[in-house]
Amino acid sequence: MKNIKYHLAEDTIDDRDIDKLAAWLKSYPRLTKGALTVEFEEGWSKWLGVKYSVFNNSGSSANLLMYYALLLSGRLKNKKVIVPSVGWVTSIAPAIQFGFEPIMCEADKDTYGLDLVHLEKLLKKHRPGAVMMVQVLGVPHKMNEMLALQKKYGFYLMEDACAAIGAYYKDRKVGTFGDMASFSFYFGHQFSTIEGGMVSTDDKKLYDLLLMLRAHGWSKDLDKPAHAALTKKYKIDDFHSPFVFYIPGFNVRSTDLNAFIGLGQLAKLDSIIDARERNHRRFKERLATRLAYQRSPGASRICSIHFGALAKDREERRKIVKALEEHGIETRIFSAGNLGLHPFWYERYGKASFPMADRIHHTGFFLPNHPSLSLEDVDFICDVVLGAMK
Ligand SMILES: Cc1ncc(COP(=O)(O)O)c(C=O)c1O
Repeated sequence: MKNIKYHLAEDTIDDRDIDKLAAWLKSYPRLTKGALTVEFEEGWSKWLGVKYSVFNNSGSSANLLMYYALLLSGRLKNKKVIVPSVGWVTSIAPAIQFGFEPIMCEADKDTYGLDLVHLEKLLKKHRPGAVMMVQVLGVPHKMNEMLALQKKYGFYLMEDACAAIGAYYKDRKVGTFGDMASFSFYFGHQFSTIEGGMVSTDDKKLYDLLLMLRAHGWSKDLDKPAHAALTKKYKIDDFHSPFVFYIPGFNVRSTDLNAFIGLGQLAKLDSIIDARERNHRRFKERLATRLAYQRSPGASRICSIHFGALAKDREERRKIVKALEEHGIETRIFSAGNLGLHPFWYERYGKASFPMADRIHHTGFFLPNHPSLSLEDVDFICDVVLGAMK
């Protein structure tokens, strides 16, 4: 598509952020992970309302860390994990990489998160040790029902909130429901640190594992008591202790440069959320009678990165996409559609077809939403969509 006037996403790192970054760089600071990373993690935990957070280099790495920390915790009753059909490939990929048995779940007709009826059937049948849920595109899932299932069937809940920062379910922020939650700060998400991810949790044991897994499996990032407990257990002398590897880790650290940007984004996050929510509401008002879209549970707050909608059928989607492209409005499929229809999945487990996830796959599309889009821009985009449906 040539001459895009309305991009699906725009950078939330603006000129002022770049100026501040340039001034900071001129002070010749330490750039690798250091004090600013810790400051960003603490600021994020405070904003979110959790005890611990681990900054890393992407939302995908955050998911990788969550899966492996759960596995190494020794708490899982088995290696079965329920995974979503609507989400992202890296919500599922670690399950394959670490030898879990992933079982795919249909999408909920309202929020497009896990379908709770199908989920309960799978829970009854498989009794999995873990469930990976996605908070789809800033529309919170039905968390009361989800937590009730967790209580009834006893599984660890990983909450992928990579594209849902700033959304609320009732008065609680999305990303505070799982035993661990992941977030992405990639360009186009609610805010950006260029690339970046975070895992947040209230569980100190999982937190310590996440810290070690982030960097090589060593204990350098742990607090003093946790570090001392390990050196005592394994009888490590002082000279060796910085370079002892307790678990097989990765290196998925980010840097203080990215943390510097993150701190600036955090300071303006509430205004970013307001703008995204305002635009999303306008899309809903204008398109409600003509298109299907994600419905949030009562008393929740949406903070989307795109407005996702479903056409009546493929032919209607084709017409809408053509009109959008002719008017310089960027569009694409809804997230990844149904992940069960992608080669990474069906070459291993066969095609996973479900009525709702398939509908999202074949008829879904995205419209732009970002803080620099005005209500007039939203109205123009809606006019183009509605015009194509006449
Ligand atoms: C639900 C979900 N999870 C994980 C990711 C991966 O995040 P990242 O691009 O930072 O690796 C994405 C990216 O769009 C996502 O939408």
